[in-house]
Amino acid sequence: MSQHKEEQLVEIINILSQGGFYSGQAIATRLEVSRAYVWKLIQQLQELGVGIESVTGKGYCLEHKIELLDQPSLRQALDNQDIELSLMIDSTNDALKGEGFAHNKLVVAEYQSAGRGRRGRRWVSPLASNLYWSLGWKTQLPVQQLGGLSLVVGLSIVRALEQLGIDGAALKWPNDIRYQGRKIGGILVELSGDMVGGLQVIIGVGLNVHMASSAANAIDQDWINVQELKPDIGRHQLLVAVVRCLEKDLQQFADEGFKVFMKRWEQVDECYNKKVVIVQPDDSINGFGAGVDDSGAFLLQTGKGIIPIYAGEVSLRLRESAID
Ligand code: BTN
Repeated sequence: MSQHKEEQLVEIINILSQGGFYSGQAIATRLEVSRAYVWKLIQQLQELGVGIESVTGKGYCLEHKIELLDQPSLRQALDNQDIELSLMIDSTNDALKGEGFAHNKLVVAEYQSAGRGRRGRRWVSPLASNLYWSLGWKTQLPVQQLGGLSLVVGLSIVRALEQLGIDGAALKWPNDIRYQGRKIGGILVELSGDMVGGLQVIIGVGLNVHMASSAANAIDQDWINVQELKPDIGRHQLLVAVVRCLEKDLQQFADEGFKVFMKRWEQVDECYNKKVVIVQPDDSINGFGAGVDDSGAFLLQTGKGIIPIYAGEVSLRLRESAID
């Protein structure tokens, strides 16, 4: 998409964000384009996942108030952190691969055309609705000690939500942030680059904030928006809170490893003492959740004792729910 077109889409969002209905003609006058062209732009925004209501005789109106992310204010709130903000990107994780990688660099996007989840799944990423971001993190820890990292990221997110007044978020090993069994967000940790002089880790996070249900048809599990839990939380505020908590937790993880996070994990472990099934590429194992060990491996209580399960191609399902 051309930059000019992107600017026109942003301008329409900004106009509609002021609240109320705007006629096609009013928008056309502001953009100095035809009404027919405005209609095309509106259609494009809807295809990108922006919830826009269209009422004959009244015009267009946003389903949810949108506050577009703003790089200077994010930067200021995060003590001049290196932040790259794009309107559209393929995947924020991919943007940090290879040459794009820098320690502590935050890549944020309003829309991902190829957002990825764990195990090659698609991450639905409608425009200006949620948070999609990735953080570059260079570490001297050996790869065997990174098993608990995605759990630590989840704990940072839960802490940030608590700071913003949302209690009761839970974590489903290894990467789901949930609320009463519905997914609020997910974490995708990937390693990149050569391993000389430290590992390059990419921490990718997607959080549902005010995604329109029309944009979420492709999601095959129960999900929930942060704004359903607390309507006045904005995306800026949430991103800043999570990144601040994460910065602290990453430092502690680098210094002391996962074991110091085990108590926090116990408090939010959705699967503890629940019937679960571990689904592996070639078989499944039933058991009960028995917490995690000090490397972040999931502990599965079976009839034959406790088995540690390492992330990778496995999926963990609560036995009451059909889909993970
Ligand atoms: C999952 O639950 O399977 C993990 C989802 C991770 C999604 C985020 S959105 C930002 C970053 N970029 C991606 O392509 N994926 C992660």
